Amino acid sequence: MKAVIFDLDGVICFTDKLHYKAWKTVADEQGIYFDEKINDRLRGVSRMASLDIILERAGRAYSLDEKKEIAEKKNSIYVSLLDTMNENDLDDGVKEVLDTLRERGTLLAIGSSSKNTKKILEKLGLKDYFDAVSDGTNITRSKPDPEVFLKAAQMLGVEPEDAIVVEDALSGIDAALAGGFKCVGIGEAATHPQVTYSIKDMTELPEVVGGVFVS
Ligand code: BG6
Ligand code: MG
Repeated sequence: MKAVIFDLDGVICFTDKLHYKAWKTVADEQGIYFDEKINDRLRGVSRMASLDIILERAGRAYSLDEKKEIAEKKNSIYVSLLDTMNENDLDDGVKEVLDTLRERGTLLAIGSSSKNTKKILEKLGLKDYFDAVSDGTNITRSKPDPEVFLKAAQMLGVEPEDAIVVEDALSGIDAALAGGFKCVGIGEAATHPQVTYSIKDMTELPEVVGGVFVS
């Protein structure tokens, strides 16, 4: 049995845009410059590590307590944006891809750095859709460390060489390769020099996966 491990934010759903909106609000409040290019560096990166990247542009050092406060504020803005989401926010193409893979008997997992993963899956009507969910709540090191994907493979009972990771983050491609997985890059991750396959759109995925796992 072969498996596909999906990143969540920016692959299954467009929550990457909501992360940006929430970080932009707190960065503006602090008077720190922040734009979509800097936001791209936050893809796949944990909440606190994301804040450290944003604070590179700050004119002063922030204490740990200040950082915790800002991260909590960002998360509460982000969570209220998530609360407006529902099943209609799941792209039809993405749903079709998941269904096609499931019908073929492919195991499906999530491998996300987000601690909000379960909430998002619930909002999108995907709560019981995946055979395993490995996320920010079960890891100690975020991407580019392979931990989140290795845990997902372990939960599925498959070896890394029998699974393929789908990612929109450069750090996610690094993580997949470090774990011994093949990987598919979408968006910025499609430009990673070592990516195994690049796709423009999720609808291209079943064909790519079919090619990889033909024995
Ligand atoms: C990743 C996102 O999926 O999760 C990152 O790409 C985000 O941008 C990280 O920082 C952590 O998310 P959360 O929801 O735990 O703050
Ligand atoms: Mg992502």
